[in-house]
Amino acid sequence: MAKVRTVFVCQSCGYQSPRWLGRCPDCQAWNALVEEQQAAETDLARYAPKGDSATPEPITAVQAAPEPRRSSGIGELDRVLGGGVVPGSVVLIGGDPGIGKSTLVLQALAALARSGTTLYVSGEESPQQIKMRADRLHLAEDRLLVLAETSLERIIAQAKKIAPAVLAIDSIQTVFTEHLGSAPGSIGQVRESAGQLVLLSKGTNLATFLVGHVTKEGSFAGPRVLEHMVDTVLYFEGDRGHSFRILRAVKNRFGSTNEIGVFAMKEDGLQPVPNPSELFLAERPVEVPGSVVIASIEGTRPILVELQALVSPTSFGTPRRTTLGIEPNRAALLIAVLEKKMGLHLLGHDVFVNVAGGVRIDEPAVDLGVVAAVASSFLDKPVDARTLVIGEVGLAGEVRAVSQVDARVREAMKLGFSRCILPESSRRQLPVLPGVELYGVASLAQAWDLLF
Ligand code: TYD
Ligand code: MG
Repeated sequence: MAKVRTVFVCQSCGYQSPRWLGRCPDCQAWNALVEEQQAAETDLARYAPKGDSATPEPITAVQAAPEPRRSSGIGELDRVLGGGVVPGSVVLIGGDPGIGKSTLVLQALAALARSGTTLYVSGEESPQQIKMRADRLHLAEDRLLVLAETSLERIIAQAKKIAPAVLAIDSIQTVFTEHLGSAPGSIGQVRESAGQLVLLSKGTNLATFLVGHVTKEGSFAGPRVLEHMVDTVLYFEGDRGHSFRILRAVKNRFGSTNEIGVFAMKEDGLQPVPNPSELFLAERPVEVPGSVVIASIEGTRPILVELQALVSPTSFGTPRRTTLGIEPNRAALLIAVLEKKMGLHLLGHDVFVNVAGGVRIDEPAVDLGVVAAVASSFLDKPVDARTLVIGEVGLAGEVRAVSQVDARVREAMKLGFSRCILPESSRRQLPVLPGVELYGVASLAQAWDLLF
């Protein structure tokens, strides 16, 4: 009998080694190598393309067909996908457990079932459990088919038989193929299953949603290659303590990657939030030190959020700088600028900065807002509640221009803001806007007089 060959495979990057190692030499992950049976080499024949080989042709002779997109019926999802679901595309959706991935996918499939058959395959829940969820969501579509299955071969056989317009696999980590000896969820299984599903999708023009689990570090459990294999990668984020969820594209072959979709998790499922600024500012305390409203551009949409800072005397030797929702290094830099340029003695104080509502922002346009919030808390002087603060702050204490000021200011006007402190160079580009006073500043010192 031939000896079964096994290899040790790194579960985070796919590196293979003939013997066990404590640390992966490729991606440096500790304790990530797991023994797996090696796939027989003949298995690779399954990847060979069928039919005649394509011949190169001049690019001008290639027919550009517009992608026929199918609206998912959920506006916020369509926005993130770049305008709808593209037939033959594979979309990977990741997120923490319990964030609402299954709910989102089931709702989307039910909406898509109005224009064709859709198939929801669950490896985690029984049809009864899915039915209970569907009842909560008030979904009753005859063309939404559900299947509880984890065998890749049987899923593919069913998909070929039923030929749905859209297929969803919840989750890719539960699917396994009989061709590999390793356990479901291992890198080999995830990669092989995803590979086969991508082939199926491209071959039959089937749109596929794959739900993927994420690790503690926040990347997809299983190989990074998963992200390379699919067309679109979406992350579903949010704070479990809050009801709103943000869907973010990190890769999209059919659209832009900086659009976000905002949802609220309600009793009867996910509700799209068409005007997120209103939601994020709903519980804002008024005239309280440390609270400042800023405008951030997410994709093509301006969103107003509240920044909060708390400055309190340090009880231990080293002062703490803790941030939630913005980059800690950026905050540390701005705190240093405040100390040096404005003479605030923050060394003896802990500084906490938080973006309310569990939103994450990485845009230099929030700099002036962070500075204003920290100073407001330190000085115990509130910033006027009807004032919007935007601007990038440089190391010399200068306030620099930001992009798309017009959109930001107009969003603030819609919500009743009457004052706006912004970079002088950006103000010059703006027309006179009725109902809002625009104050252009070139340095922190100038902003100071207006803020406090
Ligand atoms: P789920 O979609 O199962 O999350 P995931 O697939 O990402 O693990 O969502 C589960 C959570 O959502 C659970 O905590 C209950 C909540 N929920 C609602 O609040 N309302 C609803 O209508 C549904 C279906 C779920
Ligand atoms: Mg789930």
